[in-house]
Amino acid sequence: MSTPPRGPGECAILLVVDAIVLKAFGGPENLVFEDVPEPVPGEEGQVLVELSAIGVNFIDIYHRIGRYPGPLPRVIGAEGAGRVVAVGPGVQSVRVGDRVASASMEGAYAKRALAPADKVVPVPESVSDEIAAAAMLQGLTAHYLLFDTYPVRPGDTILVHAAAGGVGLLLTQIATRLGARVIATVSTEEKERLARGAGAAEVIRYGEGVDVAAEVRRLTDGAGVPVVYDGVGAATFEASLASLRPRGMLVLFGAASGPVPPFDPQRLNTAGSLYLTRPTLAHYIATPEELRRRADDLFRFIADGLDVHIHHRYPLAEAARAQSDLESRRTTGKLLLIP
Ligand SMILES: NC(=O)c1ccc[n+]([C@@H]2O[C@H](COP(=O)([O-])OP(=O)(O)OC[C@H]3O[C@@H](n4cnc5c(N)ncnc54)[C@H](OP(=O)(O)O)[C@@H]3O)[C@@H](O)[C@H]2O)c1
Repeated sequence: MSTPPRGPGECAILLVVDAIVLKAFGGPENLVFEDVPEPVPGEEGQVLVELSAIGVNFIDIYHRIGRYPGPLPRVIGAEGAGRVVAVGPGVQSVRVGDRVASASMEGAYAKRALAPADKVVPVPESVSDEIAAAAMLQGLTAHYLLFDTYPVRPGDTILVHAAAGGVGLLLTQIATRLGARVIATVSTEEKERLARGAGAAEVIRYGEGVDVAAEVRRLTDGAGVPVVYDGVGAATFEASLASLRPRGMLVLFGAASGPVPPFDPQRLNTAGSLYLTRPTLAHYIATPEELRRRADDLFRFIADGLDVHIHHRYPLAEAARAQSDLESRRTTGKLLLIP
């Protein structure tokens, strides 16, 4: 907090908070740790949350490199958990002092951040702030992908790429609980061990010279799978299409290896009347009711033993290092920033 004088006999209290500010689109060096004015919940429906744990997600990297547009300079980040310290006009559903979490914050890489009141959920006593922050974005994503984008049924054999990642470990665990047989792809032995621990029945170590689709055919007696969950994108897209059975669905939910090039829909016809969808979380938590239903399920899964694997906690000031680690495939599960 600082108090700059404005004139004789006058002073203004300027509240500041630690934050990570994106200065320019590009590499992690553009993420700068500095003081910013404390956000004020001045607009209808806003709440101010003091964060004790902040989630790092691949989408934060897309924002950093400018794949998703946004103003500069700005505080990035969408996910966190903590305590409500102020509410704006018209807020009824949340009170000062409530413990909440959200995957839809405005500038979550900070000690204090704003969120729309209808995009926060209460955190049960049994769940820590760290687990809540770690589970929100990737857990809600795993939930909508498995229950709504393609509703997985007991006995389905499904393909999950990058199964030791943040979304991947949760997808694998929940799909296994739903009675599916998961074929996982991962890049290393350590990641294979984690994917198997999450319930994967089969693991393909993809990479140079590995024909993933041929492996999937072998593991499904030539049939292929009804659904592929692909958050890797450019590097896996062709193998994903070639792994599907007729009328199967390619759920392309991310682009960790880069975006998929333009695509001729006629290929879906010739490859077996396939479906291709490119879903995003915002459209599956569009109403407070839908968000609450998914979050309640998620917290129930956690109470029942869903493992939210936290790979590493970084001080907020080291957000750039966290993002470098995530994009260079060195991590598994969740990365948190601690303010
Ligand atoms: N659409 C949505 O609603 C939504 C919501 C959340 C996340 N996502 C997407 O889900 C995906 C996973 O996100 P996450 O935060 O959980 O990350 P993550 O899976 O923990 O990390 C990405 C993983 O992708 C794999 N990968 C393969 N090729 C890569 C490359 N060239 N560069 C980097 N990684 C590569 C790596 O696993 P291996 O080393 O095993 O290959 C890496 O660990 C991302 O694409 C993200 O955008 C989408």
